[in-house]
Amino acid sequence: MDYLQIVGGNKLRGKVTISGAKNAALPLIAATIIAKDSVQITNLPNVRDIKTLLKLLDNLGARYEHAKSAATIDTSTITSTKATYDIVRTMRASILVLGPLLARFGHCEVSLPGGCAIGQRPIDLHLRALEQMGADISIKGGYVHAKAPQGLRGATIIFDKITVTGTENILMAAALAKGKTTIINAAKEPEVVQLCQILQNSGVDIEGIGSDEITIFGSEGELLPMETISVIPDRIEAGTYLCAGAITNSTITIDKVIPAHIESILVKLQQMGFGLEIGDSNITISPARRIEPIEIVTSEYPGFPTDMQAQFMALALLANGTSIIEERLFENRFMHVAELRRFGANIQLKGNIATVIGPTELYGADVMATDLRASSALVLAALAAQGTSNVHRIYHLDRGYENLESKLNALGAQVTRLQEH
Ligand code: UD1
Repeated sequence: MDYLQIVGGNKLRGKVTISGAKNAALPLIAATIIAKDSVQITNLPNVRDIKTLLKLLDNLGARYEHAKSAATIDTSTITSTKATYDIVRTMRASILVLGPLLARFGHCEVSLPGGCAIGQRPIDLHLRALEQMGADISIKGGYVHAKAPQGLRGATIIFDKITVTGTENILMAAALAKGKTTIINAAKEPEVVQLCQILQNSGVDIEGIGSDEITIFGSEGELLPMETISVIPDRIEAGTYLCAGAITNSTITIDKVIPAHIESILVKLQQMGFGLEIGDSNITISPARRIEPIEIVTSEYPGFPTDMQAQFMALALLANGTSIIEERLFENRFMHVAELRRFGANIQLKGNIATVIGPTELYGADVMATDLRASSALVLAALAAQGTSNVHRIYHLDRGYENLESKLNALGAQVTRLQEH
């Protein structure tokens, strides 16, 4: 197993290029299941979750060629509609094949994703919505068995909670369904918007893109002619590198971003006192004269993303005063707190609210990554800490950050990937 050894205290400088968004690429790869011909996807991040989903498609019988940041996927050869436990358990987002498989083949079996480190994360909303579209769903032996022999039909879906992958699953199912589907309380994340645009470019009429009410006019089972897709930039990777600049008191530029996608993150950095120069597709962050404490409440887009909560907690350790961070999306997304304390952090936890008392002198420590974004918070703290830190279990990081150590080292950090004995 690999770990990262980080010598803290280095100033960063220069420019880092942001990769394509993992969370946009995953539904787009799943959407190739309902494509008429093979589809090329470019600006793919070279991270493990992408390889996992491609492997899942391969298991179903699809063919693909994958070179670094592009893949061509041909799903015309799919022979199986069973997404097996061994893959789904490694990545919850595998559930994204449920909607498209059911819409195209009229039946499928997808392993239940099961528990997850950051909370229960059920899929009841996905299943209920598909039932409303005429699917017959049962759970047997740890698998979701879904059938719709007559095909799916349009329906009005009201999501009780805003769900990103739930909205994406229903968008893909509705694209091939018979008639009109309206999703009320839909997710508005940029990744959802890109999926809508790709479906629309493929001939599906969609109204309300980017709003919380989306209407899709299905193709009645006609597969979609999809053109080459270029994945949007990763707003969470962008936010993480801005935090790397901030926590090391450095001036760095992040390139190939869409600033509008990270407005809530930029506002918080500004409130903390950091300088920001915002271009069309790049942002330069510069040090704060005095780092101010912040209040953060995570919420759905365009609110502050839960996927940036841990990184801002690391940053709040250096603030002059008390910061309050409230996690509203996932019930157990504070596992990084115990690890941050190993660097010297003073954080009090009560339910879903963390009180961070700064400023803290951080000292290098051995810490354990617990989930993808928590891991990046530990890397950030290690960059700011005095001395050497070892961040263990970085397979979490490898799921979602492309070339993390080489990108950081190019900025002047001292990060080495080593193997546990
Ligand atoms: C997606 C992102 C993830 C991000 C999250 C919230 C991908 C691949 N992953 O995850 O990085 O942290 O959005 O922005 O895009 N819920 C239910 N029932 C359901 C579905 C969800 O109760 O059927 C709940 C969840 O437990 C959670 C909330 O709804 O409390 C939001 O979850 P959701 O938006 O579905 O997260 P994901 O799509 O899994």
